[in-house]
Amino acid sequence: MEVQIFLVFLACLSPVLATTNSTVPLVMWHGMGDSCCNPLSLGHIQTLIEKEVPGIYVRSLEIGDGIVEDTTNGFLLNVNKQVEMACQKIKSDPKLANGYNSMGFSQGGQFLRTVAQRCPSPPMFNLISVGGQHQGVFGFPRCPGASVSLCDYMRKLLNLGAYISFVQDNLVQAEYWQDPLNEAEYRQKSIYLADINQENKVNETYKTNLQKLKKFVMVMFGNDTMVQPKESEWFGFYKAGQDKEVYTLQESPLYTQDKLGLKAMDKQGKLVFLTSPTDHLQFTETWFVQNLVPYIK
Ligand SMILES: *[C@@H]1O[C@H](CO)[C@@H](O)[C@H](O)[C@H]1NC(C)=O
Ligand SMILES: *[C@@H]1O[C@H](CO)[C@@H](O)[C@H](O)[C@H]1NC(C)=O
Ligand SMILES: *[C@@H]1O[C@H](CO)[C@@H](O)[C@H](O)[C@H]1NC(C)=O
Repeated sequence: MEVQIFLVFLACLSPVLATTNSTVPLVMWHGMGDSCCNPLSLGHIQTLIEKEVPGIYVRSLEIGDGIVEDTTNGFLLNVNKQVEMACQKIKSDPKLANGYNSMGFSQGGQFLRTVAQRCPSPPMFNLISVGGQHQGVFGFPRCPGASVSLCDYMRKLLNLGAYISFVQDNLVQAEYWQDPLNEAEYRQKSIYLADINQENKVNETYKTNLQKLKKFVMVMFGNDTMVQPKESEWFGFYKAGQDKEVYTLQESPLYTQDKLGLKAMDKQGKLVFLTSPTDHLQFTETWFVQNLVPYIK
């Protein structure tokens, strides 16, 4: 009799036990000039997260085979192709099957937003964009340290012309280049940013999918000397015809016409705007733990 009661008790308890591991997995995507697992950058952040959120499964995306290819692809592999690869990796990882949060660093921020828009399954819950350039960039005043020669090559190609089809198809940074002095050409020829930002036709699927997010957290770096304009990290950009004055997300047609569902998400309290008062990606560990870790716990 006593054994029976004990078994009933266990049976009631087991569903609880099965769900005690309630950490949601995290997918990370590195920035330009970096790779998935560099112990000095993303590897270090992964270790920090694993310490702060015990038991969490972190998948840091490696685009290509090995660190060198992963880094090179961050400059030279068509973003649309990279996103397809990322979706495939996420879909085929059984540990992500029930959904995941995601955190993208610099260009990895807009790339993971693209994953949310194009690949709804498995579901992404929270998207954290750490310095992602959601309206693109116009200028690269500075490059990250480790990849000087690739970065020089990138500048040469951009100088040649960001919207030349050879450059568009082969240079990642050209694919999110927005020239405010030539918006018409940008809309017509950008093979990536103009598409995900619904500049020409509105893809209702993108809108539906993005709105499935629970939270969309965007970090802007208050003293960013790498991204021009830094407001792109919050969906702001230069007003057309010049490169000084900036509009905000709320002032943009993307928002006022709600082409991407961002206005609806804003009303539902799903958009979170944060500032790290530092240069690009130079947040402190304390800032990271206080401001970002709550969204992945
Ligand atoms: C929790 O789940 C993750 C992902 O499946 C796994 O890697 C981890 O080992 C689990 N932790 C515990 C304590 O079971
Ligand atoms: C809209 O986006 C979805 C998801 O990427 C894609 O499958 C579909 O072909 C797109 N539709 C149009 C009209 O471009
Ligand atoms: C820029 O850095 C200074 C010095 O650390 C800081 O006081 C200021 O708040 C930062 N500016 C922004 C806009 O974050």
